[in-house]
Amino acid sequence: MILVLDFGSQYNQLITRRIREFGVYSELHTHKLTAQEIKEINPTGIILSGGPHSVYDENSFRCDPAIFDLGIPVLGICYGMQLMALHFDGKVEKAKNREYGKAEMDVQGEPTLFAGTPKQQTVWMSHGDKVVEAPASFQVDATSPSTPIAAISNQEQGLYGVQYHPEVRHSEYGNDVLKQFVFAVCGSKGDWTIENFIDMEVKKIQEKVGDRNVLCALSGGVDSSVVAALIHKAIGDQLTCIFVDHGLLRKNEADDVMKVFADDFHMNIIKIDAKDRFLTKLKGVDDPEKKRKIIGNEFIYVFDDEAAKLKNMDFLAQGTLYTDIIESGTETAQTIKSHHNVGGLPENMQFELIEPLNTLFKDEVRELGTQLGIPERIVWRQPFPGPGLAIRVLGEVTEEKLEIVRESDAILREEIAKAGLDRDIWQYFTVLPNIRSVGVMGDARTYDYTIGIRAVTSIDGMTSDWARIPWDVLEKISTRLVNDVAHINRVVYDVTSKPPATIEWE
Ligand code: XMP
Repeated sequence: MILVLDFGSQYNQLITRRIREFGVYSELHTHKLTAQEIKEINPTGIILSGGPHSVYDENSFRCDPAIFDLGIPVLGICYGMQLMALHFDGKVEKAKNREYGKAEMDVQGEPTLFAGTPKQQTVWMSHGDKVVEAPASFQVDATSPSTPIAAISNQEQGLYGVQYHPEVRHSEYGNDVLKQFVFAVCGSKGDWTIENFIDMEVKKIQEKVGDRNVLCALSGGVDSSVVAALIHKAIGDQLTCIFVDHGLLRKNEADDVMKVFADDFHMNIIKIDAKDRFLTKLKGVDDPEKKRKIIGNEFIYVFDDEAAKLKNMDFLAQGTLYTDIIESGTETAQTIKSHHNVGGLPENMQFELIEPLNTLFKDEVRELGTQLGIPERIVWRQPFPGPGLAIRVLGEVTEEKLEIVRESDAILREEIAKAGLDRDIWQYFTVLPNIRSVGVMGDARTYDYTIGIRAVTSIDGMTSDWARIPWDVLEKISTRLVNDVAHINRVVYDVTSKPPATIEWE
């Protein structure tokens, strides 16, 4: 395992990603780990990430200096290299200007880290401070016009530093350099795959759970589906899933979840038909935040009620991902967002948590789901909010309006899939604003609803752009929506990015 210590760089998840792509397991941890804790983790190599600080800042992040004495190879990237240089009595100069962008770098001599790469290569720099004097026990391995000490090493001790960012694609041979560190320097094997992960995790779950029982809230989303399938593989009928159908799901979704997990996977699933309960609570409520709160709370009550009926449940399974932990847990990352799972955790429940996906990235979870035999339509499902269609019916939620959104959403999804755009667009759905307008159909005046199409491209949902769906596809969708869905006489397309808008309308 390669341990990446997090000093807050925006690129540090990428380092872990790249290494896993080489078939070597890697984890990102806080820089606060002590040398003793690292010794217990027993990594084959350590990477010190970059970070936004200057080593001279009053509260700059430091690592336990004893990690350099563990006999484990260390690669310092950017800030990580500066820390290492400083520790070994090199000199780091505080920057007047930042260097940001591509630079031409010359490799000197035959350093291990650069074996097999050209003498001159383009690298991606993003730094303020830089090392101006290498420690006496180190050699300078590379230089660039504005950063004369661009890479250093003490090969005997297995210590390496690069000022640029090899994990960024703009660094032409960055992957090769990381591979040199991971394989040539650390001696990693490169045999980590998702299949190994399944075997490893199944064993861990079996050991942890023993003959006890696990409860899981299955929503039919990617994460909870994969968690359920993985735990089921490990412990079979000791897993019980609760699937709350709040009546705010998309067309055929509830039946599909039951078909896949109850019929095909033979899981123990308790399906709760709570539609009336939710709709009654939502009656007369038109404020978006109130709607969200009501749905979130009601979800907990329903889950609570059902869980209380079950005897001997010891664990609660959660689909927490690695990114959720990194974004809220390491105290160093610059962007922090709050994560809202459906309903959140019932607080007064005495469960031990089991979170088998918490070392995986989203695309690894998808691969895991595929390996576990979950159908593509679930594994590649677009994000769907916990409050469901209720926040796509603007204002008060009624059965009639839900039906319009449900039917129009199904048509939109069908046409987007037919056009082969379903993997390119992050999210696409319809919204029903509370607008009625005049139209003419078959020579008669109509006064009916307007439906909005929202389709966005995004990397993580934090920002997004509106998707450029071809006109002819939009035309087809529009025609079908007006013809096939009762009470729609007008279709509009949302052409706003996020920010300033959000992806959902409520
Ligand atoms: P917004 O509308 O905030 O949405 O731009 C960003 C992403 O989050 C999804 N979303 C939710 N997901 N529970 C969820 O699990 C929620 O309450 C919720 N609200 C929004 C939204 O669909 C988009 O992918």
